[in-house]
Amino acid sequence: MGEIRDQYSRVIDYLRISVIDRCNLRCVYCMPSAGIEPLDHTAILSYEEITRIARIAAGIGVTRIRLTGGEPLIRKNLVHLISSIAEINGIEDISLTTNGQMLGSMADLLAEAGLGRVNVSLDSLKPDRYREITRGGDLDAALAGITAAEKAGLNPVKINMVPINGLNDDEIEDFARLTLNGPTHVRFIEYMPIGATRFWSEAKYIPTDSIKERVEKIGPLEAVKIRRNGPARYFRFAGAPGVIGFISPLTHHFCSYCNRLRLTSDGKLRPCLFSETEIDLRSALRCGAADSEIERLLRLGVEIKPDRHELSGEKISHSRKPMSKIGG
Ligand code: 5AD
Ligand code: SF4
Repeated sequence: MGEIRDQYSRVIDYLRISVIDRCNLRCVYCMPSAGIEPLDHTAILSYEEITRIARIAAGIGVTRIRLTGGEPLIRKNLVHLISSIAEINGIEDISLTTNGQMLGSMADLLAEAGLGRVNVSLDSLKPDRYREITRGGDLDAALAGITAAEKAGLNPVKINMVPINGLNDDEIEDFARLTLNGPTHVRFIEYMPIGATRFWSEAKYIPTDSIKERVEKIGPLEAVKIRRNGPARYFRFAGAPGVIGFISPLTHHFCSYCNRLRLTSDGKLRPCLFSETEIDLRSALRCGAADSEIERLLRLGVEIKPDRHELSGEKISHSRKPMSKIGG
């Protein structure tokens, strides 16, 4: 299968697909407490439509697919979509980003359908704080989900934590210590001015360097090479079974390793997380476009990927859509 590169020589082999914009949680930094209208059922791509796009994307060089949301596990019959995607020639890896609330009961079925790995979003290890941050989530359910995923072979399970000043930054070390106990990947993601932007403030943002400094209070980190890891940089404590990753969206390092396209739940192709530019694949699909036309639009998405985003310390442009609409 061919390889596709963008104008800046980045290989684009990864497609993130948001299967639903709704979520069973409402994390304080992701969604406002009220006022986001979920998309109408008919606005959302059907499984047939998603599978068709995935197949055409595989034809131009996409080898890896991630399903995101909102919360992907609340969409009915997700295992059916996973098995359809698993049958596509050229797709080598299917992964899923979830908050883990429903993972405990679903992990085995997901693995059987062909899911390879999961990322679980987890921002606190304290039950009360977890409930507060997620506005109602159950920490035990998330932890049970992680255990079930490991048992089902969805490894490595990656835990994504967004450290936020005054909210959960005192738990950075505890999260890092999880990598001493098992083969878990713990990844710290810089808090981005996206989503519930009223909650965002410069003072809450913690740059990767400071997060790393706190982690290094536990012990020195050694760099780990992980193939095709995209924008994350990885380290470990000497001898530890787990790995610690840093994702720094606000630095340009992030952009130069970008390997992805995104598909929103309503069928818009997003060349860049931080740009409002979208290509309407849904209209094309529903107007009877041939595969060759969809392919042309996918290639256009790759071609117009910007070099880098303009988010930085001085100039923060707030994205209007939350991650739940774009697909984390
Ligand atoms: N900054 C950083 N990460 C975010 N996520 C959602 N909103 C933000 C933000 N503003 C993360 C979630 C989850 C993934 C889907 O995206 O924590 O891990
Ligand atoms: Fe849901 Fe994830 Fe947003 Fe939390 S961060 S509200 S789990 S989509």
